[in-house]
Amino acid sequence: MIAPSILSADFANLAAELKAIEGSDWVHVDVMDNHFVPNLTLGLPVVQSILKVTDIPVDCHLMIENPERWAPGYAEAGAYNVTFHAETTDDPIAVARDIRAAGAKAGLSVKPNTPIEPYLEILKEFDTLLVMSVEPGFGGQSFIGHVLEKARTVRNLVDAGELRLVVEIDGGINMDTIEQAAEAGVDCFVAGSAVYGTSDPAATVETLRQKVIAVEATAE
Ligand code: DX5
Ligand code: ZN
Repeated sequence: MIAPSILSADFANLAAELKAIEGSDWVHVDVMDNHFVPNLTLGLPVVQSILKVTDIPVDCHLMIENPERWAPGYAEAGAYNVTFHAETTDDPIAVARDIRAAGAKAGLSVKPNTPIEPYLEILKEFDTLLVMSVEPGFGGQSFIGHVLEKARTVRNLVDAGELRLVVEIDGGINMDTIEQAAEAGVDCFVAGSAVYGTSDPAATVETLRQKVIAVEATAE
């Protein structure tokens, strides 16, 4: 799955920017609060407006403190998947259950230097694991390769039937880096600048998807 991130889109023309990525599997929406990360983007009212103008499943990536207070609202609004950060709460299971009870898939995200081992036990409460391959906060940063070890660890557990979840990666994914992520067993690839920085975003999404398909074909 390819999930373009609208962080690199024109915020004054979101309806058109969403049309420009028709055919994408998810649209990735980065919510930042200027506390958990040093940047501020958009919140629930904008997500509600996005939901009104697109049929693409909306993937909310909450880079915010206090997800227990805010995450269920995004699920109630109709987001398909709501991901919050492991670093922001002492009770990730409770947040995941609240998101699911409100009707969305629940995702857990880890920053590049947050180990995955302490969370392996609780991943059965989640539908998505979002592995950050840049420090959260900004688009256009360089891919951090060592995080692929976390994707591999979780992929192996999924393949062994011990977990059922989507392994998603976010940050620095482009034509040069997507193949190594695909080789590590990632299912869903977020790409912001690599998609919206091109003149034909939908065609770029398709090219990225074909690269993943080619890697999967060689693996079989
Ligand atoms: C960064 C965001 C990403 C961002 C990725 O904190 O979570 O979703 O849009 O941008 P690129 O693909 O440009 O690295
Ligand atoms: Zn993101």
